[in-house]
Amino acid sequence: YVYIGLLMLLSYLIGSIPSGLIIGKVFKKIDIREHGSKSTGATNTIRVLGFKFGIFAFAFDVLKGAFVIALVFLMKDQSLYIVSQYNITISSIYGLAAVIGHVFPVYIKFKGGKAVATSAGMILAIEPWVALAIIVVFLTVFLTTRYVSLASTACAVGVLVFFFIRIFFEHPFYNFATRIMDLTIITILASIIFVRHKTNYKRLREGTESKL
Ligand code: G3P
Repeated sequence: YVYIGLLMLLSYLIGSIPSGLIIGKVFKKIDIREHGSKSTGATNTIRVLGFKFGIFAFAFDVLKGAFVIALVFLMKDQSLYIVSQYNITISSIYGLAAVIGHVFPVYIKFKGGKAVATSAGMILAIEPWVALAIIVVFLTVFLTTRYVSLASTACAVGVLVFFFIRIFFEHPFYNFATRIMDLTIITILASIIFVRHKTNYKRLREGTESKL
């Protein structure tokens, strides 16, 4: 368990890397925390620095979520499995740790992004087909409304519904306990996304949310 804790800490530290902030400071001498929604996430990076720079922040933030899971798989890490009567595959907890790092980054006073891109990276690593489906959901909502916050929320709801339905179906690699575990983690992630978008929802209601 100490080993699992250390890997979670490593995942948290990787997730904490504020890519948008670094790109802004290095390439444009701009602190994105002082502009737009003030978030260090990819959307605000695109909003403040433009698509050319922001897309790198997006790719990096997605990679943070996918990388930590790929890493433990590549290490063929025994801690992937809690060896008990349940034999749970626990890789998703590393994704959760990375997302918590992205939202509350230790390097910049715990003020980070809104959990979307890094969660997407984690989904990409554990359920690639779901990741493809959420891209379709995202693009559909975004292209019709131009609100990233609304598109992100639709994706979070979609993923939650998928993981809930998945409990009732056989999966070739995941046993039942793992599916419950993943659903729990996804519920936590979706809750973080909803809470972090509170100000966006307020602006959406008031009609003042900025379009991208
Ligand atoms: O992924 C974050 C997005 O849904 C909202 O970001 O900067 O518009 O608050 P922002």
